[in-house]
Amino acid sequence: GSTIRATSSSSSPSTTIAEPEGIKINSIPTKPIEGQKTGTSGLRKKVKVFMQENYLANWIQALFNSLPPEDYKNGLLVLGGDGRYFNREAAQIIIKIAAGNGVGKILVGKEGILSTPAVSAVIRKQKANGGFVMSASHNPGGPEYDWGIKFNYSSGQPAPESITDKIYGNTLSISELKIAEVPDVDLSKVGVTKFGNFSVEVIDPVSDYLELLETVFDFQLIKGLLSRPDFRFIFDAMHAVSGAYAKPIFVDKLGASLDSISNGIPLEDFGHGHPDPNLTYAKDLVNILYAENGPDFGAASDGDGDRNMILGKSFFVTPSDSVAVIAANTEAIPYFKDGVKGLARSMPTSGALDRVAEKLNLPFFEVPTGWKFFGNLMDAGNLSVCGEESFGTGSDHIREKDGIWAVLAWLSIIAHRNKDKKPGEKLVSVSDVVKEHWATYGRNFFSRYDYEECESEGANKMIEYLRDIVSKSKAGDKYGSYVLQFADDFTYTDPVDGSVVSKQGVRFVFTDGSRIIYRLSGTGSAGATVRVYIEQFEPHVSKHDVEAQIALKPLIDLAISVSKLKDFTGREQPTVIT
Ligand code: G6P
Ligand code: ZN
Repeated sequence: GSTIRATSSSSSPSTTIAEPEGIKINSIPTKPIEGQKTGTSGLRKKVKVFMQENYLANWIQALFNSLPPEDYKNGLLVLGGDGRYFNREAAQIIIKIAAGNGVGKILVGKEGILSTPAVSAVIRKQKANGGFVMSASHNPGGPEYDWGIKFNYSSGQPAPESITDKIYGNTLSISELKIAEVPDVDLSKVGVTKFGNFSVEVIDPVSDYLELLETVFDFQLIKGLLSRPDFRFIFDAMHAVSGAYAKPIFVDKLGASLDSISNGIPLEDFGHGHPDPNLTYAKDLVNILYAENGPDFGAASDGDGDRNMILGKSFFVTPSDSVAVIAANTEAIPYFKDGVKGLARSMPTSGALDRVAEKLNLPFFEVPTGWKFFGNLMDAGNLSVCGEESFGTGSDHIREKDGIWAVLAWLSIIAHRNKDKKPGEKLVSVSDVVKEHWATYGRNFFSRYDYEECESEGANKMIEYLRDIVSKSKAGDKYGSYVLQFADDFTYTDPVDGSVVSKQGVRFVFTDGSRIIYRLSGTGSAGATVRVYIEQFEPHVSKHDVEAQIALKPLIDLAISVSKLKDFTGREQPTVIT
C-alpha cells in the first residue's frame, strides 16, 4: 500500500507529501467554509457557491477525513452524476482528491453520467467501498441554479447521519487538501487509465444497472405489452439522466417505439426545465395524458433518475397509492417470487400501504422522510418494497429509490393483467388497477401543499408554534368536526441499530384516521420550504370518485388555520400542490 507522509512546509502553498508509485500528492492549505451541512440527501447549493475556490474540494477532503481509512485506502469508489452543469469539472476535482487520499480505483460513468439508482447498483455489483453522486436531484441545473453531491456507502445506500455529521464537523476544522497531481481524465471513452497504483475506469453507465433490472423483471412480459398496437406508452426523461437509460432499456430492450421517449437527451440545464416529475413541473407530460386520445401509460423521472411519476389515460397515480398498488401486485414481478419480506413508507406518505401490509400480513415500518432510513431494514432482510409521497418508489434490489424500476413495476402489473387479452379486447388500464385497489382496500385521499422559498425565520417560527400546540394537546381535543387521537413531533428509533432521530415532522392524527403533517423540506437550496401533508381515509367505494382537492378541502382549510400558515409565511397560496 502507499503511505502518505506529511512533510512540513511554510513557504510554498503546495507541498509534495508523498510520491506513491509514480503519483505526486500535493498538500494544499485550505480554510474552513461555513454552511457545508448536508440536508436530506447530500450537500446542495447554488452552483456558484460550489464553484468558489476549494468549496467542493473542502467537502470532499472532509469526507475522506471522516471515513475510517479501511473504507477507502486502496479501495474502490464509484463516481457519476445526472449530467448537470459543473459535473465535468467536479468529476476531475473528486478524482484528484480521491487519488490524493489513497483510493485505489475509481469507476466513473462515461461522460460522468450515472443515475442515482445506477450508482447504487454499480456499488453493489462491483463490491465498491462507496460512491459519489453529483446531482441536486430534481432541482434545476445551469450556471444560475443548483449543484449537489452525495456519498453512498458500500451497500449502495446514502451515508448515514453519523457520517454526514462527521463530515460537517470536519468542514469546520479543515486545513489541508490532499490532491494528486494527475492530468484530467478523458471521460468520453470507456476504458482504464492508470496513474501509478491509482486507476480510473470509465464505464458504460447502463450495463450493470440494466443487467440487474433484467433479473428483477420479466422483460418478455413487458415487451409483450409495449409491442401491442392497442397500448401506447410515453416516457418523459425531462432532459435529465434517465434519458441515457430510456432508449437502451425501453426502446432497445423492451421494444417501445423511439418516439415514445420525450426529452430523452440529458442536458446540462435540463433544457431550462425543472426536472421534478410532478403535476406542476411535468405539466407537458400531464397534458399529453389528459388530452383526448392520449396514450395509455405515461411516466417521468427526475434529474438523477430516482424519482418517478406514473400516469394513466387522464389519470394520476399518487406516489402513496403507487407503492401500495405495487406491493399488492408483486406476483407480476419475478424478483418477489419467493415472497415479500416487509413493506415501509416514510411518515408523511399516506396509509394506503399500511392497509396492504395488514391484509397480506406483512411486517410494516414507518420511517422519517429520507430514503436512507430504509437501508438498514433492507440490509437486515426486513424490507422488500417501500415508497415515499415525494415520488420515490423502490425495493431492496438496490439501496436508492429507482424511477425506472417504478415504471417497469407498473408496466409489469399492467402487462400481467392483460397478458391473455386478444387484439381488440379492452385492456385493463392504469386507472382500472387503482380503482380496483381502492375498492379492495379503501381510498386514502392524499395531497401535499408546498410553500417554496419562504423566509426561514417565519417558517421556523411556524414549526415552533406547532410544537407548542402539540405539547399542550391531548386526546379528545376538538378541531372543528375532527377529534384528536394524538399529536406529536415524529421520533424514529431504527429497529436495527437503535439510533434515534427526533423532530421529523409535526403530526395531528385524528380519530377517523385523518392526518395533518407539517415539516420543513431538507432538500431546498434557498430559504425554507414548508410542506403540509393532508390525508383522509374513505372506505366507501361510492365516495372514491371525487377529486382529492374537493374531498380534502375541509381538512386543508383546517391545516392552514391551525398553523396560522398565512401569518407566519405571508403566503396566500402554495407554490406546488401534489
Ligand atoms: C429526496 C430524498 C427523499 C425525500 C425527498 C423529500 O428525494 O431522497 O427520500 O423524501 O428528498 O425531501 P424533503 O426534505 O424536501 O421533503
Ligand atoms: Zn432525485
